Amino acid sequence: MDKKQDFPMLMHYKDLVYCDSAATAQKPQMVIDRLTHYYTHMNASVGRGVYALAEQVTTEYEKVREKVAQFIGAQSSQEIIFTRGTTDGINFVATAWGDKNIKAGDEIVVTALEHHSNFVPWQQLALKKQATLKIIPINQDGSFVIKSVSDWITPKTKIVAMTHVSNALGVYNSHLKELVSAAHLVGARVLVDGCQAFGYQPVNVQELGADFYVFSGHKVYGPTGVGVLYIKKSVQFDVPPYQFGGGAVFEVKDESTSFREAPHCYEPGTPPIAQVLGLGAALEYVSACGVINIQRHVAQLCTQFIEGAQSIKSLRILGGVEHLTGSGHLVSFVVKDVHAHDVAAFLDTRGICVRAGHHCAQLVARALNYEASVRVSFAMYNNAHDVTRVLEALAALSA
Ligand SMILES: Cc1ncc(COP(=O)(O)O)c(C=O)c1O
Repeated sequence: MDKKQDFPMLMHYKDLVYCDSAATAQKPQMVIDRLTHYYTHMNASVGRGVYALAEQVTTEYEKVREKVAQFIGAQSSQEIIFTRGTTDGINFVATAWGDKNIKAGDEIVVTALEHHSNFVPWQQLALKKQATLKIIPINQDGSFVIKSVSDWITPKTKIVAMTHVSNALGVYNSHLKELVSAAHLVGARVLVDGCQAFGYQPVNVQELGADFYVFSGHKVYGPTGVGVLYIKKSVQFDVPPYQFGGGAVFEVKDESTSFREAPHCYEPGTPPIAQVLGLGAALEYVSACGVINIQRHVAQLCTQFIEGAQSIKSLRILGGVEHLTGSGHLVSFVVKDVHAHDVAAFLDTRGICVRAGHHCAQLVARALNYEASVRVSFAMYNNAHDVTRVLEALAALSA
């Protein structure tokens, strides 16, 4: 699989090696065309108008909701809420569900593997409510330090919020199913941050048992400004609207308001219409490529990178290579005596884009005792030649 020709950015900068898709992915022509088509041929708001154009765009908008529902194995499209992205979706749950359900003395469980977006909202909620924040630590390979799940999940636990795949190390959540089962046994809810998993592996929210699942459109070849929050239907009674405004209401009186059914009660105001349609195009594109094919392709690139990187003595891969070889789409590493920013700047001089820093995961950096790392991440448009170019540049840097 080499899809470069579908991505205008990569055709424009023919020599560019873009290895920062875990930050944001490039957009295929199909997505760009869908945005342009909306603005040039369909521009009207959704959900309100009674004229043909408004009805047409509403239908297209709702079709994307259906598509997302199918993609993640939701029971119904009513479980799909469009947000601004993963961060927005997590703040939604921590604020709306959290405010209603968390009280002093309750326990909120997160892990040390989290992106700040799935850590700070829970930390702030715990501080506000005088609840206890429990942070499951990680081993050097990125797996969780769990002797017994009951040490972490107790009758006081109200929610477990954890990542599906780590954005800092690339490793999969080592205890996902076990933690979901234990949480449900004590009546707690589970939020899974799917930001680095969705689009890179098949996701089925019902099989996962997630009550909430979140991801961002821009990481799966879609536009920025749109994301998805899945809220399981049986949990929705416990999630009041996060924000208030037009479109989400049924009847507004002087003293009270009644709300529309989900998902509309959760989407007040004019939504990101173009972006939702663009996300629909991105999902069609991913679907045509096949998620399994994408997964296999990026895993091969990861394996090629790891094998090559292991022969560069000054380079240390973080997170345990055995967890990354043959799976995953990103690898983080440090180079002895060269700051990660300098590594990234050097690679940039050779037309290679990688990410350097703590990757919004300072808990991971502290646990593994590094200040900043370099992260290469692969997508369907990368190929073996890209990996070779990164390896050659790293070898030159270390020579
Ligand atoms: C695992 C993970 N969670 C959350 C986020 C935040 O996503 P966004 O910035 O699109 O809201 C990211 C972004 O890198 C991520 O990788």
